[in-house]
Parts: sequence; structure tokens; C-alpha cells
Amino acid sequence: MTAFARVGSILSQIRTYSCQMGRTLRLNNGIEIPIVGLGTYKSPPGEVQQAVKDAISCGYRHLDCAWFYENEAEVGEGLHAKIADGTVKRDDVFITSKLWNNHHAKNRVVPMLKDTLAKLKLDYIDLYLVHWPMGFKESAPPLPQDASGYSDVDYLETWEGMEECVKLGLAKSVGLSNFNSEQIDRVLKHCKIKPVVNQVEVNPNINQKKLIKFCKDRDIVITGFCPLGRSNYAGKPGFPTPTIHDPKVVDMGKKYNKTPAQIVLNYLVSLGISVVPKSVTKSRIEENFDIFDFELDGDDRAYLDSCNKNQRCSPQTAYSDHIYFPFKIEF
Ligand SMILES: NC(=O)c1ccc[n+]([C@@H]2O[C@H](COP(=O)([O-])OP(=O)(O)OC[C@H]3O[C@@H](n4cnc5c(N)ncnc54)[C@H](OP(=O)(O)O)[C@@H]3O)[C@@H](O)[C@H]2O)c1
Repeated sequence: MTAFARVGSILSQIRTYSCQMGRTLRLNNGIEIPIVGLGTYKSPPGEVQQAVKDAISCGYRHLDCAWFYENEAEVGEGLHAKIADGTVKRDDVFITSKLWNNHHAKNRVVPMLKDTLAKLKLDYIDLYLVHWPMGFKESAPPLPQDASGYSDVDYLETWEGMEECVKLGLAKSVGLSNFNSEQIDRVLKHCKIKPVVNQVEVNPNINQKKLIKFCKDRDIVITGFCPLGRSNYAGKPGFPTPTIHDPKVVDMGKKYNKTPAQIVLNYLVSLGISVVPKSVTKSRIEENFDIFDFELDGDDRAYLDSCNKNQRCSPQTAYSDHIYFPFKIEF
């Protein structure tokens, strides 16, 4: 490569990088959420530190965590390493975490957020979500085997605890996860502080267009989890085939000189949502962030639209008899 070409290539990389860095959606409280975040569910404690460091080095400014993932301390280690080496300041990075189902009683919410903050070694979180609308007994295991582990604490009570987190300055924003349209409207009717986000499964097998529109009309941003359809679930009985393994999507990748994962992530963000693809593989972390420099044509969008079959990789059917199970209605 000539020196001239090398300078051109570096400038182009800088342009792409700064363009991606600025990609955010505005929440209803004026705070901006970066469109692409790093998922951390099932990222092993021995690997997630490096994944977080790689992600921040390549430009990610959003980490999606949860108390349930049992790796928040290690996510925090990765983050603090990048703060220590001067790559970012705390305020540059948007950190999401989630309250687990055993702690829906109002007086458990602040202590659970404090526990998450202690693990992450932070004094505030950018976004704290109610992980699921269903509550479990505090004494039950995190995933109870049967209904004897359920609690009937109303998520409206939980929401009061979430509001307390904002009032105490422990959370900048609060939101929901896995809530259906009726549950969202119930929270909106009773809340003093509005949820800013509903984090739900979104990928071409379940594109959630109705829930996205419903939330947009209420100024709530959707964050899509399992955006790659859990690519490692390919061939797993009872689960939808991840669209990134669809031969037509593989061909689309060749057409745009992109990978199937980049095609799918580009399609999802074009629906007006943020996404949190998970990876502990450096090359994939970089790939999943490099999705903004192309636009799918009408035929390709139509094909991806046609993949929708409302099939989830995270259906949680074991809890379908819970009073607050969210997937009993269309959306
Ligand atoms: N709110 C909720 O209830 C909820 C539920 C589920 C998930 N989440 C959040 O959403 C995040 C993402 O969901 P997820 O982790 O379930 O599934 P996902 O992001 O759809 O898929 C992750 C899988 O895809 C692989 N992968 C990553 N990038 C790839 C690429 N470019 N090409 C091919 N394969 C790739 C990963 O492997 P490697 O890591 O080995 O690279 C991993 O096996 C979670 O980590 C979590 O933060 C939230």
C-alpha cells in the first residue's frame, strides 16, 4: 500500500469510528443510549474482562449487564482497566444492569442495585431495568422449579423501588425488560418516573414491529436482546434457526461485502432500536460494531421482514402459569 493510500485508509477508519461513536438514541429523559452495546449473558467470568476491554477499545460505549449473569465484578474489572489506561472516563460509558426476579419487593430494590454497584465498583448505573415482570420468592432459587417459588409481588410495587433508585442518584434512568404492552401501560398509568426503555428479544425471527411502534408512541426505546438469535442455538431442538445461518442472508452478506451478523444487526437498528449482541470473540465484537456504513435495499429488507414468525429463543415457558407471565398476549 502506498503512503497516500495508507493515509486514506486511516482517515476512512477514523471517519467510520467517529460516526459509530456518535450513534445514540435519545431517551424520554434526554439521556442518550448508544445504539450498539455489548451483551454479557453467558460471557464466562474468565473471559468477559477481555471482551469488555476489546469492546471499549473498538468504540463500544454501552455494556449490558445483569445481577443474574453472575459476572458483574469481572465486567467491572474490564471497564476499570480501560478507565485506568485513559481510553474512557466513567461518564463516557453507558452501563445497564437489571434487577432479578427474587427481589421484586419494594424494599429489596435499592439494596440489590447497591449490590450490583459494589460488584461493578461504580457509584451509579446509567440504566437499571426490571429484568422480568414475574416475581419469585426471595427464598426460592433464581430459577424456581415450580410455582411454589413464585411471589405475587406486583411489579407496580417493584417500580416504586426503581423510582427510589433514581431519587437516591444510584440510577440515572430506569426501565423495563420483557414487559408486554398491557404491563407497560399499567406502569405508565401509575408511575411518577417514566420507564425509558423496554428491553425485549428482537431478531428477524421475532421482529417485534408492533411492540416497537407501541413503545415509540409512548416515547419508550426498545433495546433488542438475542439480536443474533443466539447463533450458538443453531440446530438446537425447539428453537428457531438463527437468521444469520439462513443461506439467503449469507448471500446477502456477499452482496454487501458484510457478514450475515452485520446484515442482521444493520436491519435491526434500521427498525429504530438499540441492540446488545454478545460475544467474547474479539473479531466478532469488532464485526458487530461495524454495521453502519451500508443500507439494505428494499428486496433484502422485505426478505428479512418475511422471516418474522414470532418465535423466541427466550420463551421462558416454564413460568407461563405465573400471574405476570408476559407472553400470553400478542405483544
Ligand atoms: N433482558 C433479558 O431478559 C435478556 C435475555 C437474554 C439476553 N439479554 C442480553 O442480550 C445479550 C445478547 O443476547 P444473547 O447473548 O442471548 O444472544 P446473541 O447476542 O443473539 O448471540 C450470542 C451468540 O452469538 C455468537 N456471536 C456473536 N457475534 C457473532 C457473529 N458476528 N457471528 C456469529 N456468531 C456470533 C456468540 O458467540 P461468542 O461469544 O463465542 O463469540 C454467542 O454464542 C445478552 O448477552 C444479554 O446481555 C437480555
